[in-house]
Amino acid sequence: MDVIAWLRGLGLERYASAFRDNDIDGGLLRQLTAEDLRELGVASVGHRRRLLDAIASFDASTPAADPPGRAAETIATLAPARADAERRQLTVMFCDLVGSTELSARLDPEDLREVIAEYHRAVADVVRSLDGFVAKYMGDGVLIYFGYPRAHEDDAERAVRAGLGVIDAVGRLDVGSGKLQARVGIATGLVVVGDLIGEGSAQEQSIVGETPNLAARLQSRAEPNAVVIAAGTRRLVGDLFEYRDLGAVAVKGIAGPVPASQVLRPSAVASRFEALRSGETPLVGRDEELELLRRRWDQAKTGAGRVVLISAEPGIGKSRLAEAFRESLEGEPHTRLRYFCSVHHQDSALFPIISQLERAAGFAGDDSPEAKLDKLQALVSTTDPATDVPLLAELLSVPLDGRYPALDLTPQRKKEKTFEALLRQLAGLAERQPVLMIYEDLHWADPTSRELMDLTVEHVARLPALLIATFRPEFQPHWTGQPHVTTLSLRRLGRDESDELVRGIIGNVGALSSEVIDEIVERTDGVPLFLEEVTKAVLETAALGAIPAASATVPATLHASLMARLDRLGPMAKEVAQVGAAIGRDFSYELLAAVAQPAEAEVRDALGRLANAGLVFQRGMPPNATFLFKHALVQDTAYSMLLRGPRQALHARIAEALEQRFPTVVEMQPEILAHHFAQGAMPIAAVDYWIKAGDLARRRSAYAEATAHLVKGLELIPALSDLKARTAKELTIQTALGQLYMATKGYGSAEAEAAYARASDLCEQIDDRDQFMRVLIGLRG
Ligand SMILES: Nc1ncnc2c1ncn2[C@@H]1O[C@H](COP(=O)(O)OP(=O)(O)OP(=O)(O)O)[C@@H](O)[C@H]1O
Ligand SMILES: [Mg+2]
Repeated sequence: MDVIAWLRGLGLERYASAFRDNDIDGGLLRQLTAEDLRELGVASVGHRRRLLDAIASFDASTPAADPPGRAAETIATLAPARADAERRQLTVMFCDLVGSTELSARLDPEDLREVIAEYHRAVADVVRSLDGFVAKYMGDGVLIYFGYPRAHEDDAERAVRAGLGVIDAVGRLDVGSGKLQARVGIATGLVVVGDLIGEGSAQEQSIVGETPNLAARLQSRAEPNAVVIAAGTRRLVGDLFEYRDLGAVAVKGIAGPVPASQVLRPSAVASRFEALRSGETPLVGRDEELELLRRRWDQAKTGAGRVVLISAEPGIGKSRLAEAFRESLEGEPHTRLRYFCSVHHQDSALFPIISQLERAAGFAGDDSPEAKLDKLQALVSTTDPATDVPLLAELLSVPLDGRYPALDLTPQRKKEKTFEALLRQLAGLAERQPVLMIYEDLHWADPTSRELMDLTVEHVARLPALLIATFRPEFQPHWTGQPHVTTLSLRRLGRDESDELVRGIIGNVGALSSEVIDEIVERTDGVPLFLEEVTKAVLETAALGAIPAASATVPATLHASLMARLDRLGPMAKEVAQVGAAIGRDFSYELLAAVAQPAEAEVRDALGRLANAGLVFQRGMPPNATFLFKHALVQDTAYSMLLRGPRQALHARIAEALEQRFPTVVEMQPEILAHHFAQGAMPIAAVDYWIKAGDLARRRSAYAEATAHLVKGLELIPALSDLKARTAKELTIQTALGQLYMATKGYGSAEAEAAYARASDLCEQIDDRDQFMRVLIGLRG
């Protein structure tokens, strides 16, 4: 192969002399790593990328110049894959215009074109408002992704909202003659997404997988103006919506009928916690926290109000704690007020307050304006209803109906007056009996609600009221210094508590072995949400008859939320997280920098972001720093995005870097190299290191580990292409295994006998007398 011509083809002939001076020929080209390229003077990250991509995409059938053996095992033999494609869980939405054939018969083509354009615009507007991605227009069909290019923890909910929104928006389009109708299909699943087609098609982010097909088919099964969702999506949106069960529908191209539901409307459940996480699992731990809340409540009841701020990352149990405390007050006279901030209403002024009032007043969808005003009047408990009712009516967009004089105030003045009215309302309630206010998810509060919150916190101090507010750490309240305010940082559960939680979920559903439970506890780091979801996922696989294991995959219910945390930090941080994830739960800066493709400054910056976002813990400073993924599930998520080709290439680079620069690891932990060589599709090297690892463990009398290492080596034997090497390696392994089984299972055990029998067969095959003698000694004991 002509290296110079190849470089020219890539537009990178400027490196020709460097390649020539370093004796890089066509054969060696296939083995080049990012590190080599850097040494060759390819300083630009983009150029290194281009070269590595081109190397990785060599046709595997092109003969390599090297003889078979270790040297031929390089990243070049791996399947070509584009680096910018990813595996992801996506919610895919497909929407179509009803009766377009009939429309095309009726309309002049030019008018039809305009109608379609308007319809496309309407769809795109709705989708954009929910941060979805219009991937493709196909005639009157539109393909939309939620979860790419940026994931959100609530992608499935966003897609369903978009579906309802599209039906509504299309129905309101004014096309002169008649109304338009749409239908929508939505499905969630794992896909490969990215620029799959190659150069110049970056606009068209295509996906591969069953999910888009399912969404399209469900769409075609939907009635006009209906949103039909697949079971996978349905599970993610819980009770956020009301549904009609469509049973199992037959879908072309997919084996077996698939359960589907039609989404009717958003449900009346206001609490995200209740809609999505109303699992009836017993409460674990949290005694001290409940005790603290109890004390604050007792203090508040005397008229010296208290505020407790509960802060913690998602899934730790903030809502659950607030709920548990609320339940503990049942049977005790008090008024409960609950406010829910929503990620979708961060720009809508006083959204949590308005929806609380609407619920408290008992507004129904079909109430007339008069009925609403009546209900509001009944609700208002202030000393000054003549001022407050009109203010609150205006807040809730209820017409005053001539019953009250219209308000004539500047916007600023009106806001102040409304705040006063709301605070008076609170005071009025507190006068009757103690008030418990629960304010959920303050990190999503709109700016006006935050202003009101400032006043409320102040106000509460003089009332018999306890205000509990929950939020994630990204929100930093400035009330913490006040004497009546307590901050409660909720910690993760301990090992025993985690164990108890898992056992609580398993209940009598089915037993899991203690090993599997330990594995779940290990992998979920004391985060109750992770514990719950991983346990449920493991139970489901067990119910399907598979061997339950916690290490399989990231549960679908957690995927979006974990992915969102990575996406938020930008592509470079995500890439660095993937490299770290391939190395392991903890990784050193030194190794990471040696194998990561981005330049060092970028790697440092990316690691800084990951640490700041709390995804990894950092110890020390680069170049001596080490990092640890805070959650195993974040590591798994980052790793799971890698496609096979780049993933194998990455492991191969890690293995090679370890071999070249980390002699202590080579000597003391050969199993680490074995793992990376195996994952890097370099079985020859992997087998050698598994043998080394087995030997080392045996010499340390760690027989179980030694056996495990050797068995892994044995599993790779069929992957060796060279027959002679294959026989020789297997013989080494079987002999060593024979000895180990003799030591652990006993002389004459079935395992030892099988290993020696196989070894003696192999000896015959290669006619190795020395080895045969050794085997014979083994056989005789
Ligand atoms: N102490 C606990 N014992 C048993 N289950 C718990 C406990 N804490 C939380 N859970 C469960 O874990 C899940 C997550 O809890 P929760 O929704 O309260 O988290 P959160 O901190 O409010 O998260 P977010 O930031 O997303 O609102 C829920 O299903 C909840 O029932
Ligand atoms: Mg919560």
